Amino acid sequence: MSAQHLQNHPEWSTRLAFILASAGSAVGLGNIWKFPYIMGENGGGAFVLIYLACLLIVATPILISEVMLGRRARSNPISGMAKLSREAGVNPGWQLIGWMGVLTGFLILSYYSVVMGWALSYVEKAADGAFVGADAETVKGLFDDLVSNPGTLLFWHTVAMLMTVVVVARGVRGGLELATRVMMPLLIVILVLLVGYNIGTSGFSTAMDFMFVPDFSKVTGETFLVALGHAFFTLSLGMGAIMVYGSYMPRGTSIVRAGLWIIVLDTAIALLAGMVIFPIVFSNGLSPQEGPGLIFQTLPLALGAMDWGYWLAIVLFVLVSIAAWTSAISLVEPAVSFLWERFGVRRLYSAIGVGVATWTLGVFSALSFNLIADAKLFDKNFFGLMEFLTANILLPAGGMMIAIFATWRMRRADSAEELGLSGVAYRLWWLPAAVIAPAGVALVFLNGLGLFG
Ligand code: PHE
Repeated sequence: MSAQHLQNHPEWSTRLAFILASAGSAVGLGNIWKFPYIMGENGGGAFVLIYLACLLIVATPILISEVMLGRRARSNPISGMAKLSREAGVNPGWQLIGWMGVLTGFLILSYYSVVMGWALSYVEKAADGAFVGADAETVKGLFDDLVSNPGTLLFWHTVAMLMTVVVVARGVRGGLELATRVMMPLLIVILVLLVGYNIGTSGFSTAMDFMFVPDFSKVTGETFLVALGHAFFTLSLGMGAIMVYGSYMPRGTSIVRAGLWIIVLDTAIALLAGMVIFPIVFSNGLSPQEGPGLIFQTLPLALGAMDWGYWLAIVLFVLVSIAAWTSAISLVEPAVSFLWERFGVRRLYSAIGVGVATWTLGVFSALSFNLIADAKLFDKNFFGLMEFLTANILLPAGGMMIAIFATWRMRRADSAEELGLSGVAYRLWWLPAAVIAPAGVALVFLNGLGLFG
């Protein structure tokens, strides 16, 4: 951040910069690692359909609301919600959205950094040539060795956290725009290339059926909860990250258009990732229900068998790591911008403080794959519990509050002005955000509790 920005709230250089940074936050492990694995665990096509419905009906109006709140407040999520409550003349308790967001970001980063560590360690394995010509068993062995070794996991968790802290300490603009600008197109090119390679393999049509022909017999209350939670997770929605990035967005640019771009890009990358992973699964007789290790046990198989596979593997895992990196940064940005704007804590110190605290919590996630694997609650280990609590509960709850505040608490004139919408266009946002999205979250929560049998 340049000196002139130290007093005021900083701003992106262009509209594209906002889209790039937000897309950098949205596109991450959620798209490449999590989407395929939860799709596999939740039966494929029906899950994809429910997920897309959640994205369209619930997440889209909330995304627009969150960006709008951020840009209106021009401040971190906590002070920003206080400011907006004052402007609207409502209870300052709505700051809770900001506090919850800071907490959620902290909880997510703790395990996100562990998985980013896996991606980093796979760059090393790729460079060692570990995947070249490897069969399914060898590849599975590589992953099992990694997660069963606490020392290695903690080493890579530490590297991932250090990388995050360094960028956050330098400010939102330093390097972030460039990283996204290069990473995103390259990632799409490589994924498309891998899909192309898959078309010729034996498992391709089975994989397409698995992903796109819904089988509703496997759908339960939890399927809806996971699909909805993932719609929030993959868009970085409901915890203030998009609010903070929106607060750096220049006035006069269209929030709706920028929001839609992010959703299209994010969804395209997730679906491509699925079309890369599942043909490998079915061509090699693997199970789609491998859980969190799925991409690490499949990608190396295809890459190891390809002509340029050695190089492609390195590039791909580097890109996955960069995608994770640009997301990890946005998880702490709400906290760091709050500490700076409210208490004047320098970025360097707050980044280190947040980094140390998150790292410590993350140790438990890393160890839940080995030393404390048997410590379970609700049939989930620590890592699984964190994932469930943050993605499936805290993010949708935060998003619901954001939508309610933006529609029922803010003055309509203010939201209309900020969105640059009026008449029918305004109502096309308002009604879904005010009624459909909150009701959707509520229904999925109740359904998840088993209330509808
Ligand atoms: N959207 C990111 C991903 O898909 C994760 C994330 C969630 C980032 C919430 C910031 C806030 O990987």
